[in-house]
Amino acid sequence: MKVLLVNGSSRKNGCTNVALCEVARALNEEGIETEQFFIGNEALPDCIACRKCRETGQCVFHDSVNEFVEKAKSADGFVFGSPVYFAHPSGRLLTFMDRAFYSGGAAFQFKPAAAVLSARRAGTTASFDVINKYFTICSMPVVSSTYWNHVYGAQPEEVAEDKEGLMTMYNIGKNMAWLLKCIALGKENGLAHPHNEKVLTNFTR
Ligand SMILES: Cc1cc2nc3c(=O)[nH]c(=O)nc-3n(C[C@H](O)[C@H](O)[C@H](O)COP(=O)(O)O)c2cc1C
Repeated sequence: MKVLLVNGSSRKNGCTNVALCEVARALNEEGIETEQFFIGNEALPDCIACRKCRETGQCVFHDSVNEFVEKAKSADGFVFGSPVYFAHPSGRLLTFMDRAFYSGGAAFQFKPAAAVLSARRAGTTASFDVINKYFTICSMPVVSSTYWNHVYGAQPEEVAEDKEGLMTMYNIGKNMAWLLKCIALGKENGLAHPHNEKVLTNFTR
């Protein structure tokens, strides 16, 4: 079993990374493989709503988003981490998730996910809400913890001192491992995921 941890910060080794490493530590203790995916610092184009991905299954922009969706197909769970910018997740991560979920939604469906946020002071719960919405529109079980999923700090050393924040991260990893094992046991015993109905009305009929 493998979990992909996405770092949506521009700082590869910043505060978000500290939070993700703590989630990974708990997952690894439970025998779950982890891989960190840094979305990078290169400019990322926004979704241009061309809908070409509906025909090809891939975004027309061949960058880290398509690379990530390919990895997501074989992953069992996800953690998306972001710094808080003006009380929302990083614009970079939102662009990344818009395109990944629009072009590759099937790679995420029915797989557990968690959002984690890093902030100097405020805006974490609003940001948490934004990221969780990608999961709940995609039939993904949302993994919870023992407090809101955030750490505090402007620098990684400060996050290392946020003992409660790190405990929350650790507990996300433990809870995700438990859920992954339950899903695997279910599959072994013939319990498949549901097949969701889909009706699009666009409010016109
Ligand atoms: C453009 C920008 C906007 C920010 N806005 C907020 C904010 O609204 N609330 C907050 O608490 N911290 C804010 N911060 C601080 C970062 O969220 C915080 O330092 C975070 O831990 C950085 O994570 P990173 O090292 O992984 O990038 C902002 C930082 C930047 C660069």
